[in-house]
Amino acid sequence: MRTETPQAIYLKDYTPPPFLIDTVDLDVAIFDENTRVRSRMGLRRNPAAADPQASLCLDGEDLVLESVALDGRILAAGEYVLCGGRLLLRVELPEAFMLETVSLIEPDKNTQLSGFYRSKDGYFTQCEAEGFRRITWFLDRPDVMAKYTVTLHADKAKFPVLLSNGNPVASGSEGVGRHWAKWVDPFRKPSYLFAMVAAKLDVLREDYQTRSGRTVHCAVFVEPGKLDQCAHAMAALKKSMKWDEVVFGLEMDLDHYMIVAVGDFNMGAMENKGLNIFNTKCVLASPDTATDSDFQHIDRVVAHEYFHNWTGDRVTCRDWFQLSLKEGLTVFRDQQFGMDMHSAGVTRIQDVRTLRAAQFPEDAGPMAHPIRPASYAEINNFYSATVYEKGAEVIRMIHTLIGKSAFRAGMDLYFKRHDGHAVTCEDFVSAMADASGVDLTQFKRWYNQAGTPRLVARGEYDAAARRFTLSFTQQYPATAYERRLEAEGRKFSRGAYHLPVVLGLIGPDGAELPLRLAGEDKAVGTQRVLELREDEQTFVFEDVAVQPVPSLLRGFSAPVILDYPYAEAELTHLMAHDTDAFSRWEAGQRLATQILLRGIEAFQTGKGEALGWIPASYVEAIRTLLASAADPESDPALIAEALTLPSEVVLAEAVSGVVDPDAIHGAREALIGHLAAQLKGELLMTYQALKLSAPYSPDAAQVGARALRNTCLDYLAGSATVEALALLKAQLDEADNMTDSVAALAALANLDVPERQAALDAFLERWKHEALVVDKWLNVQALSSAADTGSRVRSLLDHPAFDIRNPNKVYALVRAFCRGNPRHFHAADGSGYALAADVILLLDSANPQVASRIARSFDAWRRFDAARQSLARTQLLRIQAKTDLSRDVGEVIGRALEA
Ligand code: TRP
Ligand code: ZN
Repeated sequence: MRTETPQAIYLKDYTPPPFLIDTVDLDVAIFDENTRVRSRMGLRRNPAAADPQASLCLDGEDLVLESVALDGRILAAGEYVLCGGRLLLRVELPEAFMLETVSLIEPDKNTQLSGFYRSKDGYFTQCEAEGFRRITWFLDRPDVMAKYTVTLHADKAKFPVLLSNGNPVASGSEGVGRHWAKWVDPFRKPSYLFAMVAAKLDVLREDYQTRSGRTVHCAVFVEPGKLDQCAHAMAALKKSMKWDEVVFGLEMDLDHYMIVAVGDFNMGAMENKGLNIFNTKCVLASPDTATDSDFQHIDRVVAHEYFHNWTGDRVTCRDWFQLSLKEGLTVFRDQQFGMDMHSAGVTRIQDVRTLRAAQFPEDAGPMAHPIRPASYAEINNFYSATVYEKGAEVIRMIHTLIGKSAFRAGMDLYFKRHDGHAVTCEDFVSAMADASGVDLTQFKRWYNQAGTPRLVARGEYDAAARRFTLSFTQQYPATAYERRLEAEGRKFSRGAYHLPVVLGLIGPDGAELPLRLAGEDKAVGTQRVLELREDEQTFVFEDVAVQPVPSLLRGFSAPVILDYPYAEAELTHLMAHDTDAFSRWEAGQRLATQILLRGIEAFQTGKGEALGWIPASYVEAIRTLLASAADPESDPALIAEALTLPSEVVLAEAVSGVVDPDAIHGAREALIGHLAAQLKGELLMTYQALKLSAPYSPDAAQVGARALRNTCLDYLAGSATVEALALLKAQLDEADNMTDSVAALAALANLDVPERQAALDAFLERWKHEALVVDKWLNVQALSSAADTGSRVRSLLDHPAFDIRNPNKVYALVRAFCRGNPRHFHAADGSGYALAADVILLLDSANPQVASRIARSFDAWRRFDAARQSLARTQLLRIQAKTDLSRDVGEVIGRALEA
């Protein structure tokens, strides 16, 4: 049995590679039983190496080595050794030389989906982070950048499409029914950006003119028969290309840009140079099969991968500790794109919702890490909400602190200095500091300290002096991350963050007040960016004629938990008058959270059902909100967001002390039920008024209308009345798009009524041939609040529609249940924990990356009562006892148990 977390790798141990690889020539011959990979590499000693005599040790995993040749001479058995996934050369090496290896791999047996693997329609690759070593021997680290030439050989009828990065330069037929194609990538790149595909696929082709007049041939490759589901991804690609030209002055640099969709994929998509590989979920969409949020998600993922071409591919990471250099920055870029393409307010709200639901809990749990961790056991575990989402918030803070035009200048300088290189997060921050003249030394703490800071703010109004004093205190207690560093005897320091607080002051009439800070001779606007750098800071506003309500952290200007003692009336005031859409929404969430926290306590003491904790004023605030939908100026999408209560996961974060999932669920459901009962007429009216007659389009106006309509439906369904059931059934029958169908199905799946099973059966029957729709069918059942959800999810594991080898299926059913349905996952009898452990154990060897993502469901186990903790620990120990437990799951479970 393992007793501890697997061996860690440390940032402080980084050394430059002993050798550089300038060129790679791959010849890949695909056969039914295996694939032969011949690689010819041009190597030379790295002048920057620490040891000029170092020996050459190449990475390799699951490779059967056939031969090694040095400058054309086949090496004898004693001239190299294979050990622990490495190939070590034991011969004298010249300054520069050619090394040729021939190896066999078995892509049909590669269930990990890392390296070269088989999926339904052919063969695909996934090399980030360390998959290239599963294809051939290499210095598989991002600071080794080479030019690649690739020749693929395969059966022509079975695999007519042969692709790799860059440009196609030659192709032909050979042997009996076979063919080949040769690709050359003109850009140097790290091995993690390598890709190749040999498959039977349909393709949608369109050209894009860059602003300098070059033509880029764009192509979207998909499963045969699915061409009618590609148009949206293609349009998103072109919009992204245009946006990056306009906003950042960045043009596409290749003649070919290909997107290939594959149904078996561990994550969303991958930015391989010129040959992105995508999860089908992030490409395929038609009104029948995809929801509004799928359409928007596709826009964002296509943009994200496209933006990586500059932030990731042209300038890449020196080592994997710098992952946020490309991911945080690229998420920031796709967020900005989303805000420009859709409603800025709604986009920001949704992005913050994601951050709070995934990243805040991560930062509060056993896997806490800064956006640049100091160590890791398995890098795949650090493709995390922290590196991505908090990483994007950190970039956003730089943008806010130095301003838009300085940020653009910083980006220009970053590319000027580092184009074609593998660099660090410091390099990025330095470019921003140098271009703006702003000192960002202290700001770098965001890269080294873990945990969500708490910002305690207090306001005091002195009517006689017409003065409003705002004081801030930063709190940043050590997290599991710092406790571990300490236990390892490593030195670390913690200190106050440099962060922007964007604020305004709202008067009693709802108007914004002019802002003059003490020492200034006149007011400067009605919105300011305050810079915090110290543990405690005070700002004094002069000439404040009336007691204001401060609107703090507009646009969520910093990823902190704000502690300000707002009275409920002040929150209602902000909900109605704040000029910042995010802050209006935030005030509503804060108000709902305050009420729900009282409700949770009431449920714990058996007084919940009496509803004494729900103030009548809250019902009136929601009534006003609903009524505003009738105003043609209003944005229904924003109203829908405002009507959506904080999720059970987010509420659990807000609770201090032991988390009671039943009380959280009880309070939230009770509030929904009460609102539905009190506002039934308004909800029904809004629902009916928003019925669309135009044909489906995923445009902002329709999306907003459907979002609000389905939010109303959700409230109405909470009452489970005959009337509500009729509404659900009617919507299921009449819907001409997946958004409305799945909204009704999800609402029905919560109810313990005979109609539920009939609707689920009919839905599956209709969509059983569309894998992504079957995922939705699994998903609504996993997220159901009905009492029997645990046992139903357990039996769905054996349903023919489920496939444990397909990550999308596992995420749709198991991850959704474990991470999106806390009441059932944390069932008092431990059945949820047992289910998760069973799946983790089944998947650990076959696909450790996916197993590890499910294992993260245990992160919060210490926050529950003793009985639940004991049940969870039993399952954690059971997982840890598995022989040959993967490093991926070992690290996650080890840390959970240390907590
Ligand atoms: N770099 C990819 C992105 O953010 C994601 C990625 C990392 C990935 N590792 C992966 C995708 C493994 C699939 C499998 O866009
Ligand atoms: Zn990315």
